[in-house]
Amino acid sequence: MTEPGLDAALALIADVPDFPEPGILFKDITPLLADHSALTAVIGALAAPGRDADGRPVVDKVLGMESRGFILGAPVALALGVGFVPVRKAGKLPRATYAVSYSLEYGEATLEVHQDALQPGDRVLLVDDVLATGGTARATVDLVGQCGATVHGIAMLMELGFLSGRDALGDVPLTTLLTV
Ligand code: PRP
Ligand code: MG
Repeated sequence: MTEPGLDAALALIADVPDFPEPGILFKDITPLLADHSALTAVIGALAAPGRDADGRPVVDKVLGMESRGFILGAPVALALGVGFVPVRKAGKLPRATYAVSYSLEYGEATLEVHQDALQPGDRVLLVDDVLATGGTARATVDLVGQCGATVHGIAMLMELGFLSGRDALGDVPLTTLLTV
């Protein structure tokens, strides 16, 4: 079912040419976040992959990837009635972590999650704003695997189709609300 108001919400995403560098068309979601109706529609749509056909929640936790995944992931967790787990950039979490490193265009990045954040057998929903190369999502799927948990699905606001990030995710179900 399409979330009421979703099209109007997505129309609030602003195109910003030449940011952060010339030739890049940046998709700015802050006007959408600032609009209560739009934010409500988007959170409802991102939570949908965490429900069964009758609308009942089927995940144990929502994971959000630092930092824009925090903005969307925590309200999705509340909508589903489950807890939120932050996946953080290296060195930010204070206790024992699992870590996965992955390649960026220039250099490498590392994501971490607390080792006790998930229980073996947990089913989780990953939430972030944008799927680009898929590196962030792939690394997070691998972190969930280290925890002995299962990725039920991935929900993203936007997908940059020309980067084919989907291909990095294998058969993990991916829901995106907008492809650009
Ligand atoms: C951005 C975006 C996604 C990621 C997508 O995060 O929020 O998390 O890139 O790219 P990928 O699919 O190629 O991995 P970034 O860490 O750049 O910034 P943020 O801290 O503002 O979320
Ligand atoms: Mg991010």
